[in-house]
Amino acid sequence: MSSTNTNTDPTNPTPTRYRRSRTMLSKPDPNWVRNDDFHNSFLIPYDDALEHALKHSAENGMPDIAVHPGQGKLLNLLARTMGAKRILEVGTLGGYSTIWFARAVPEGGEVVTCELQEKYAQVARENFEYAGVSDKVKILVGPAADTLQTLPSDEKFDLAFIDADKASNLTYYLQAKRVVKRGGVIIVDNVVRNGTVANPDIDDENVRGVRKLLEHIKNDKEVDATTIGTVSEKGYDGFLYSLYL
Ligand code: DHB
Ligand code: MG
Repeated sequence: MSSTNTNTDPTNPTPTRYRRSRTMLSKPDPNWVRNDDFHNSFLIPYDDALEHALKHSAENGMPDIAVHPGQGKLLNLLARTMGAKRILEVGTLGGYSTIWFARAVPEGGEVVTCELQEKYAQVARENFEYAGVSDKVKILVGPAADTLQTLPSDEKFDLAFIDADKASNLTYYLQAKRVVKRGGVIIVDNVVRNGTVANPDIDDENVRGVRKLLEHIKNDKEVDATTIGTVSEKGYDGFLYSLYL
């Protein structure tokens, strides 16, 4: 484990951000990490509940694959920008991005998040409790391909975030489309994967899952989309942002 103090004002020390040694898809360039730290020091204050979620998740053996703070904040800002009241998430993990979303929805809004493993869901519940967002979050435990089918299509979501097993991207995307309103947004994490998705020499279930989704969207006249690549402390990756027309 390693940690870096992101504080830029020595007269006003803030707690140190929790940071694990990385086991990511690509080793982050120290220049990218410094850049994140620099920007975050102005724009994303130290946040006890989010740091607790990362630490508590790590202590319970979860992989270090939550979105990075800048992405979490972007998701929060997008949700607020569109005035999202109902958000669907596929892939809870420790609930780090869920907390960012839960804070974006107004009183009476909700985040429905799907998690495969009860063990992870329990840690996420504890993280939601600590963050004070439990009343806004509903966790559905089990294979998302099944639980998504139980969501009624007459209770629409404003926004969906897909961040689970990559092989099932298209299944999740089609289910999300069924329950997201027209004019709503579906965002998919990890569509760049250190450039492997575009590398013809690489062919694993993860890159195939992303390519299948891209192929679908190319022919789906009901959505319009773009990929935004990101370099960060989590390496080289990206979001797919799509609008349900
Ligand atoms: C992996 C999954 C993620 O959702 C992520 O953000 C990074 C990596 C993975 O399975 O390797
Ligand atoms: Mg992800």
